[in-house]
Amino acid sequence: MNIIAVSNRKGGAGKTTTAVNLAAEFSASGNRTLLIDMDSQGHCSVGLGIKEIQKGKTIHSLFRDNTISLNNLIIPTSFENLDLIPADPLFNHGKGNLSPYLLKEAIQRDSVLKHYNIILIDTPPSLDTLLVNALVTADKVLIPFVPHQLSYEGIKQLIRSLYPIMLKENPNLRILGFLPTMASDRMKFHIKIKGKVGEKFGDAKLLPPIHNSVKLAEAFAAGKPIRNYAPKSRGSKDYRITANKILEIISN
Ligand SMILES: Nc1ncnc2c1ncn2[C@@H]1O[C@H](COP(=O)(O)OP(=O)(O)OP(=O)(O)O)[C@@H](O)[C@H]1O
Ligand SMILES: [Mg+2]
Repeated sequence: MNIIAVSNRKGGAGKTTTAVNLAAEFSASGNRTLLIDMDSQGHCSVGLGIKEIQKGKTIHSLFRDNTISLNNLIIPTSFENLDLIPADPLFNHGKGNLSPYLLKEAIQRDSVLKHYNIILIDTPPSLDTLLVNALVTADKVLIPFVPHQLSYEGIKQLIRSLYPIMLKENPNLRILGFLPTMASDRMKFHIKIKGKVGEKFGDAKLLPPIHNSVKLAEAFAAGKPIRNYAPKSRGSKDYRITANKILEIISN
């Protein structure tokens, strides 16, 4: 099973940029990939250039009516091997007391895994049932973080939310890795925070960094993964290296 939740309780950590660009890399290397956007900010659609979302055909529809089939929510993208279940920008994250198993059960019931090698789930920064659903469904969690002083707090908060889930609802969940984003090789505190994460969780869990690159923000605004928008840029090279590293880890 390769269901990867991209998560960090800190907002603006590079979760969506990472989910979109890794999905693009995985699919380009021949892996049938499904990206699920659990965050009602709906940014995955933006990053993939999808402008119109049909009402009632979003992942949030499942949280309103759990009999709905995921297969009816999947939309193709203009990138080969890459499909998306978009988010509903009108979904109210705070609402309701929903089962943490809704997404997991729907994926099993609708045999979604049969069609894909990798499912990536982009998650909201808030701790709500949607984030819990993502973490209960995934077997791996990827944690992007900006290596600045405060980032360690977001990681600690996420780990605090992970442990009870690993003990109760999802004992199969593992940390795939920590991914430094918007990183600088020159700034001393970036190097220091990366070192601290490596010390705490093991150097093997520290993935090759994604450097700060304005092209990544531009690509997002243009609705294209970086590998299509600026294939020769540093951001493109970084995501390719990270994607290959992740493919190597998950194939072992
Ligand atoms: N490596 C990078 N270099 C420069 N800018 C980046 C990089 N990664 C992401 N950004 C920009 O930083 C901002 C936040 O990134 P992103 O939306 O991916 O974070 P997020 O964790 O998904 O945020 P949220 O918690 O709101 O969902 C965006 O404007 C994005 O374009
Ligand atoms: Mg996001």
